Amino acid sequence: MPTLMTTFPKSTVKEAELLPEIATRKSLRAYSTQPLTNGAIKSLFEAARWAPSSSNEQPWVYVYATAEQPELHKKIASTLVEANAVWAKRAPLLIVAMVRTAFIRNGKPNVSAKYDLGAANAFLTLQATQLGLNVHQMGGFEKEKAIALLNIPETHEPVVVMAIGYPDSPEILPDNLKERELALRERYTQEAFVLNDVFPE
Ligand SMILES: Cc1cc2nc3c(=O)[nH]c(=O)nc-3n(C[C@H](O)[C@H](O)[C@H](O)COP(=O)(O)O)c2cc1C
Repeated sequence: MPTLMTTFPKSTVKEAELLPEIATRKSLRAYSTQPLTNGAIKSLFEAARWAPSSSNEQPWVYVYATAEQPELHKKIASTLVEANAVWAKRAPLLIVAMVRTAFIRNGKPNVSAKYDLGAANAFLTLQATQLGLNVHQMGGFEKEKAIALLNIPETHEPVVVMAIGYPDSPEILPDNLKERELALRERYTQEAFVLNDVFPE
């Protein structure tokens, strides 16, 4: 088993049975403008709510805006780098996902905060997939701009912006993104990252 990731091949094949939400989820870019119901939005955050976290601290915090709140929606969209903004601003739901960086009970730094946010975002994403929604997470945004525009306190750190909505036809995308939208997802095979032994010398 090689120990460096650089030389591994990737594959589109599923090596075992999967929950349908895991098997079919994809970070798409073509969004329908169809709005989400309040119930659907609530259900996404409820999924995040029940994620595990270190000491049950639940360090995740979300600021969201729907397209029906154009001022706030535009503020969030304006934090995205251009390569993301070009497609993500059409998504009817934009979320800034952030963490409280310290534990509530003692003020000490929570080194697991981002790990826990990732778990909550994964739960949210799978719930969204089950509802027929697409979630696309983006690290490509200006943190400082988000902090300023959303008045994010020093105790919090924005980590990703998420674009969420029902999928639309790839035809609405610029040519360079159309191809990526239709491409099959691929991954390193399990051989590349699963060990049932100590690392080789
Ligand atoms: C933390 C994080 C940051 C990401 N940032 C971006 C981004 O800025 N722009 C983008 O188009 N995709 C972004 N993605 C999406 C990844 O590129 C995508 O998840 C990956 O290529 C695998 O594709 P899949 O989600 O369709 O399986 C990000 C995903 C994560 C989890």
